Amino acid sequence: MKIAVLPGDGIGTEIVAEAVKVLQVLDLPLEMEQAPVGGAAYELHGHPLPDSTLNLAKAADAILFGAVGDWKYDKLDRPLRPEQAILGLRKHLGLFANFRPAICYEQLVGASSLKPELVAGLDILIIRELTGDIYFGQPRGRRTAVDGLFPGADEAFDTMRYSRPEIERIAHVAFQAARQRGRKVTSVDKANVLETFQFWKDVVTEVHAQYPDVELQHMYVDNAAMQLVKSPKSFDVVVTGNMFGDILSDEASMLTGSIGMLPSASLNDRKQGLYEPSHGSAPDIAGKGIANPLATILSAAMMLRFSLQAPEAADRIESAVKSVLAAGYRTPDIWSEGTQKVGTREMGDAVVAA
Ligand code: NAI
Ligand code: MG
Repeated sequence: MKIAVLPGDGIGTEIVAEAVKVLQVLDLPLEMEQAPVGGAAYELHGHPLPDSTLNLAKAADAILFGAVGDWKYDKLDRPLRPEQAILGLRKHLGLFANFRPAICYEQLVGASSLKPELVAGLDILIIRELTGDIYFGQPRGRRTAVDGLFPGADEAFDTMRYSRPEIERIAHVAFQAARQRGRKVTSVDKANVLETFQFWKDVVTEVHAQYPDVELQHMYVDNAAMQLVKSPKSFDVVVTGNMFGDILSDEASMLTGSIGMLPSASLNDRKQGLYEPSHGSAPDIAGKGIANPLATILSAAMMLRFSLQAPEAADRIESAVKSVLAAGYRTPDIWSEGTQKVGTREMGDAVVAA
């Protein structure tokens, strides 16, 4: 089983090192090869996603990804910015289905910013469409306005678009996932204002006809943002477009205690997958050895389950994480009175030992 290991920038290198350590003690035939991506690749090759890295990713069964980005690259032309590497990987590998499970571990109920009774037992799955929407839609750019309120002024524009097959395939993924869980799908849109999302709503409703055993609810994105903090446990599977999914999944991460706890899987139709924590490169804490590696370690568990057909190994990692939390180990982002504050490496060591 070939794994492409792409640590990237900032805390990416620190947290991926811990996940690799955990994978190495599993006694599985894993072949791991590392390559630079993002700002690290720009420094070495002048491009955030060089061909050598892309080819390694294409040939792998799965990709373990850290994070990319740093403020120091903000001035670069957009195609050279580190973030283009993750967008490029998603696009080149066709990774359209992004799974972001938000689970509130019993031991972290107190770390959530919500009242314990709202998050205790929380287990929701956000499924974000990852290769369409306004993040990829053309045309986009800057120009001089010829109409609108200020003709002659500078303006910028992006294009929100979804095709029927793009919506159908992510809807199928969501209904099938719901069958393995609570049999409820909430499709989040903005159909009241946006034609793209009226179309989204229509197509999801059509696909639903093939899943009579799953309940379908439609919700506007503004209400969904509110309901996520008001009664998060009323959700089971949430399916939505690229941009709304980006925002709502970060919001959902805070229900679990910290974005440092939230893993993710991005899959294509060949079950090849890219696994990464939901957070970014956290330049504010990079190099300090305090980043929480658990989101990345839990992403490695998802990798074993979804792409590498090693579900027992995935279970072992997840139960090791639970026992480490039960033993009181906490990185600063999830620390509370009465628990033991540890750094990135100590947290990784504790999971390895467990
Ligand atoms: P971020 O997710 O990197 O950080 C947001 C906040 O969460 C920061 O205060 C950070 O310290 C904290 N945080 C994140 N991960 C943590 C962890 N494992 N343990 C403890 N605390 C953690 O988002 P931000 O600051 O908006 O972006 C920073 C850079 O990352 C930017 O260049 C951005 O474009 C990039 N980014 C990259 C992503 C990717 O590689 N997939 C995703 C999101 C952002
Ligand atoms: Mg994001």
